[in-house]
Amino acid sequence: MAKPPRPLIAGNWKMNGLSASLNEARLLAGMLKGVKLVCEVMICPPATLIGPVRKLVKSAKIKVGGQDCHQKESGAHTGDISAEMLKDAGASAVIVGHSERRADHGETDAVVRAKARAAMRAGIVAIICVGETLEQRKAGQTLAVVSAQLQGSVPEGATAAGVVVAYEPVWAIGTGLTPTAAEVGDVHAHIRRELGKLMGKPEARKTRILYGGSVKPGNAAELMAVPDVNGALVGGASLKAADFIGIIKAYS
Ligand code: PGA
Repeated sequence: MAKPPRPLIAGNWKMNGLSASLNEARLLAGMLKGVKLVCEVMICPPATLIGPVRKLVKSAKIKVGGQDCHQKESGAHTGDISAEMLKDAGASAVIVGHSERRADHGETDAVVRAKARAAMRAGIVAIICVGETLEQRKAGQTLAVVSAQLQGSVPEGATAAGVVVAYEPVWAIGTGLTPTAAEVGDVHAHIRRELGKLMGKPEARKTRILYGGSVKPGNAAELMAVPDVNGALVGGASLKAADFIGIIKAYS
């Protein structure tokens, strides 16, 4: 058996964070400095804070990511940010296709794939999000929905080094609800099988599949122990260093 990929715990600050929030990044860096981390740790702050957060956390080996990017490299797209710009600001990854982007901005799988391709072009990791709504889960469509999203949004030529998949059931995001460990395991195993068809089995085995949706210090250890779960994408509980460290510790 190939050894499992190094886990990743990524914090998605969403549209939260002013300069005062830099203190949380500073605190986290202080807590992790000199600690030999089992997992990779990443903060995805709003784009306005990528540079300053990077400066604060670099020495603690914490990575920084963006939350979205435009598919083009540059041009007349007022208000948008390219993957190259994120990289230039200090990001080594970008979240694409988060359900909030899909819902708020009507992002389709094709758009998500173009954005993932942009990340690959810029040389940063694309964290591609997939997940079903409550109605879809109740209708027994979870695996079919996730398959369709993967088929539509994972670019050709994707590699384990360039792509991370985050399984985020929409109904679990920010609600305090989570699927059971067995339910998470079923979906993650399914995602790895689908990735095998899209990327080839050896790459799929090395690709990190994160779970996201109401991950907290209290449930992180149980969720991270599920087979085929290679880390977490954390929203609310990533905003406070004291909470986020509790999740990171699931891997120590
Ligand atoms: P949550 O968000 O941890 O606040 O549920 C997760 C996410 O949307 O990535």
